[in-house]
Amino acid sequence: MGVFSQRMNVLGTENAFKLGRDIQKVESGGQDVVKLNLGEPDFDSAENINQAAIAEIQAGNSHYVDPRGLLPLRRSIAGHIEHTRGVSVDPERVVVTSGGKPPIGYSILTYVDPGDEVIYPNPGFPIYESWIDLVGGVPRPLELKEEKDFRFDASDLESLVTDRTKLIIINSPSNPTGGVLTREDLRQVAEILQRKAHPDFRVLSDEVYEEIVFDGLSHESIVSEPGMAGRTVIMNSHSKTFAMTGWRLGYALLPTVEEADAFFQWNVNLYSCTPPFIQMAAKAALDNPENQGIVRSMRKTFQERRDAVVAALNRIEGLRCVQPKGAFYAFPNIEGICRRLGIPDASARLQADDQRGLQPSTLFQMFALYKHGVATLDRTAFGTRDTEGRHYLRISLASDLASLQEGVRRLEAAAKDEQGFAEFMDKI
Ligand SMILES: Cc1ncc(COP(=O)(O)O)c(C=O)c1O
Repeated sequence: MGVFSQRMNVLGTENAFKLGRDIQKVESGGQDVVKLNLGEPDFDSAENINQAAIAEIQAGNSHYVDPRGLLPLRRSIAGHIEHTRGVSVDPERVVVTSGGKPPIGYSILTYVDPGDEVIYPNPGFPIYESWIDLVGGVPRPLELKEEKDFRFDASDLESLVTDRTKLIIINSPSNPTGGVLTREDLRQVAEILQRKAHPDFRVLSDEVYEEIVFDGLSHESIVSEPGMAGRTVIMNSHSKTFAMTGWRLGYALLPTVEEADAFFQWNVNLYSCTPPFIQMAAKAALDNPENQGIVRSMRKTFQERRDAVVAALNRIEGLRCVQPKGAFYAFPNIEGICRRLGIPDASARLQADDQRGLQPSTLFQMFALYKHGVATLDRTAFGTRDTEGRHYLRISLASDLASLQEGVRRLEAAAKDEQGFAEFMDKI
């Protein structure tokens, strides 16, 4: 018997939160760091939202409330989904959660038994894989392909779906790739699942970037496909849309009231309820028309940054970057840089030496941070499976343009710094 349960050996993490320590180390050595690793809008929540929360606290709305969420907020959420997805929504099927992460864990805990298969995007938000592994689900990573603008092949999906498929997770727009699924992609997913999966399958549709879609494209949801409203869990949060990351406000729409009861029960077991003043501010975020203008302007800013950053990245020798269609990340392929700096050989030598298994993209990400002062995340932060030979970085667009340009300049300097990389490897 040890101190920690066996479970702790399989629990995953989100490297975005772990990188802070490395950044501090670099900064404490006197080097400034351009932080292009952050997954949160660089805007503050709107004043009308802040004021709504303050007024609620002052009015004493600070007690335990219905674990399912306050009915006025659930009505606003239901109205929003009805309006945007064209499906009818009973507020009793909506459960409010503290942030967007709980519905991911709840879905896997509620639907997946050991041995059940779960299909999920790869690369994808790392918390999917963490929960699948924790419950003993069978992970079935679905590759998002650069050559398909980070969508997937229907034939790949079809080959993964079996009568043991219990849950499929989709995330559009996607973190980390910025890929956006089309109506046709979703139609294919719905068709393949209904034909081949276990009849009790569910889809978890992570729509947290629904408002950050570029080039006039619209966000599409699988819930709108025929036969899917009764099988889809939509999860969402106010973190990205309303720049409310620290407020921790999320929600899920469940296919049935019974499934919403299960999520209610998870809330009861974990944190009883989401703070009521936060819920009422979240209602203001959805209801106050001023926020639509704020969201539009945020989207425009992200698109302008995307245009500038992707163009600048593509001028770096050895790097190529697909134009992301949504979310606020660029996901360049850095294979050419890795080769030029001799990173695959260095990585292979390390693996032989000490089994640390540092992938080439991880080594470049560390080199760029420690030697050139630019923080990014590499491919291995977005799923631990099938990472070999896939050399990517995630660059967040959630910084002002001057910082982004400086960050790209530092990446370019790192990409050319063969001697610096050799010295870095000597010390590792
Ligand atoms: C795809 C995706 N899903 C869920 C979340 C979690 O959102 P929240 O911060 O509201 O918990 C994130 C946050 O980065 C995300 O990128």
